[in-house]
Formats: sequence, C-alpha cells, structure tokens
Amino acid sequence: MMKVLITLFVVVLVDVVASQCNCNTMKWARCDGTPCQCNLQFSSTYKQPIDCTTLIPKCFLMKAEMYRARNNLTTRSIGGKPVESAFVDNDGIYDPECESNGKFKAIQCNNTDVCWCVNSAGVRRSDKGDKNIKCDPVETYWVRLELKHKEVAIPLDATKLKTGIQNALLERYKLDKKFVTDVQYDKDGRLIVVDVKKDIGERVTDLSLMTYYMEKDIKIKPLFFDENKQLEVSVEGTKVSMENILVYYTDEMVPTFTTQRLTVCLVQWLPTF
Ligand SMILES: *[C@@H]1O[C@H](CO)[C@@H](O)[C@H](O)[C@H]1NC(C)=O
Ligand SMILES: *[C@@H]1O[C@H](CO)[C@@H](O)[C@H](O)[C@H]1NC(C)=O
Repeated sequence: MMKVLITLFVVVLVDVVASQCNCNTMKWARCDGTPCQCNLQFSSTYKQPIDCTTLIPKCFLMKAEMYRARNNLTTRSIGGKPVESAFVDNDGIYDPECESNGKFKAIQCNNTDVCWCVNSAGVRRSDKGDKNIKCDPVETYWVRLELKHKEVAIPLDATKLKTGIQNALLERYKLDKKFVTDVQYDKDGRLIVVDVKKDIGERVTDLSLMTYYMEKDIKIKPLFFDENKQLEVSVEGTKVSMENILVYYTDEMVPTFTTQRLTVCLVQWLPTF
C-alpha cells in the first residue's frame, strides 16, 4: 500500500513539474528538459535561450517576430509630444541586431546596406545612411503612453486613475510604481496620458520592455503565455480596457533627424488624437 502511494506521489510530482515547463512571459517560446529551459527561434538554425521569470528583451522579441513573419507564422502593426525632442516609431518592425544580453546594437541595418541609429528601445533616432553611419548608444529615459480607453458605464475618477495605472503596470509588467510620474486624463476624449520616467544615467531599468508588451496587449494580442488574460486597469472597482496606444520616446540626447522628417512625423500623427 505504501509503495503504491509513493509511486502515485512521484507520478503526480513529475506531472506537476512537467506542466510547469512553459514560458509565462513569451507564448512563442519552446521549453523542455529538466531543469526546464526555454528558447526563442531566431532562424532555422539558431535558438536563443531566454529567462521566462521576467519580460523578454524587446530586441529578442523583434527577432523572433521577424522569423515568424518570414515563415508565415502568426505575428505587429503600431501606433502630443511630451517635449519637442520626443518622437514616435514610424518604421515598424525590422530584423534587429541584438547584444547577447538582449540590448539593441546602436546601429541597425535590417539585413541591408541601409543603416540607421536606434535608441535603447530600438527605435530609429537618426536619418537613414550607409554602413559607415556613426551611432553611439543612447538611452531612452522617458516614455509617454497615450492610451485611449473603451467606453465605461460609470465616469472614471481622474484622481484615482494614477493608482489604478500604477497597480496595473506593476502587476502585469513588474514596473515599479515610482516610474509612473504623471497621469493626465481627458474624460471626453477617453484619453489617458501616462508618463513613465527614470533618472538620467540610470542603466538598470529598460523602459522598452514594458512598452513593447503593452503595445501588443492593446493592439494585437498579449505576448504572455496566457494570451487570453487581457490588460485591465481597475479604478475603484470599474474595469477599464484600452483600445489604442501611441508611445513617445524621449532619449537622453536629442535625436538627429533632419527637420523635414520631424515635420512629416507630426503631420502624420497629430490627427489621430
Ligand atoms: C509565405 O506565404 C507567401 C504568400 O502566401 C508565399 O509566397 C511564401 O512562399 C510563404 N513562405 C514560406 C516560408 O512558407
Ligand atoms: C526590414 O526588412 C523587411 C523585410 O525585408 C521589410 O519588410 C521591413 O519594412 C524593413 N523595415 C525597415 C524599418 O526598414
């Protein structure tokens, strides 16, 4: 009898351990082995080992996404300025070069001879040039999220909104509340403007992690293993979902676009809001 019980116990234990071998923060990862190891496919011959206890670096996610797009697997489409030097990502996706720790290389060429400089969020911050373009690493220290929320039955309390946003970003993206420095609300436009800011010179927090996961959550489908669990902000018991997001990036150094591009970018984006 004891033997049967022990066998049963072992079988149950093995089952539990096996069922836990999946990647909570990345639904496209493939995991196996003991201990459980998860990988993301970048090409037919290269799999990147990833740490699923935390959000996956954006550079790795973009590489995986390009691989999936090339192979017809399901995959991005993306969407005022906090300061004059802030800019949006008008380019969309490319096949990035990543450092081994998942950071973006400062120069990106998308497998072509046309290259440009990106910030730590992988977003282009220079005009396009050739392979000799000089790019220094530049950190994004401030992102502004412009969120449009879906209709709600009860009007939202603007003063409680900041707490709701802070809680949601902490719970879903593990973003410390101190980084949410300001939340503004326009009730009629259903517009929530969230400033996420770290100190200049801080090199521990990567703001691009949260913004990329959030764009996917709102515009496409969650990247998390449980892709049916949606991003929701709770304001005094009212659950609020978002229908659109636009992200502005502000870097420690102003971008080097020519004036012409800045004008184009403004004209293109302002009418949306
Ligand atoms: C993906 O789909 C396109 C158009 O349907 C097709 O031309 C292409 O060969 C496909 N690529 C792969 C890798 O299956
Ligand atoms: C990168 O290359 C892909 C495929 O060649 C293309 O579809 C995409 O638009 C390019 N992206 C940029 C930002 O140049």
